[in-house]
Amino acid sequence: MKIDHIGIVVCDIQEALSVYEQALGLPLREVTPVPDQKVEVAFLPVGESNVELVQPTASDTGIAKFLEKRGEGIHHICIEVEDIEAALARLKEHDVQLIDGVPRKGAHGQVAFIHPKGAHGVLIELVEHST
Ligand code: CO
Repeated sequence: MKIDHIGIVVCDIQEALSVYEQALGLPLREVTPVPDQKVEVAFLPVGESNVELVQPTASDTGIAKFLEKRGEGIHHICIEVEDIEAALARLKEHDVQLIDGVPRKGAHGQVAFIHPKGAHGVLIELVEHST
């Protein structure tokens, strides 16, 4: 397992890229829409991991409400797993509160979120990369 990415919610990806890409010098891998989650994301590799800038594209999602209420900043930490179904089954066995009981489609594979209430205040995303 490794930290796949750290998700940072931003109002405007292009504006955020002027800091993270141009000023900080991180390489930009891609900017891509994730229609299922009503966001646009930018991935900037940092070693084995990535910074993921996330801009909501609709106002009726959890992440849009997060941005409205708490402002820009760290939103979630994503851990890569080999088998997301097995990871979710294990979490359920331990009665951990989940947002997604079943995986859904993310930018790079199947993803599922653990509720912050289940993870001591941190929104955790799990990802199983599609091969
Ligand atoms: Co993410």
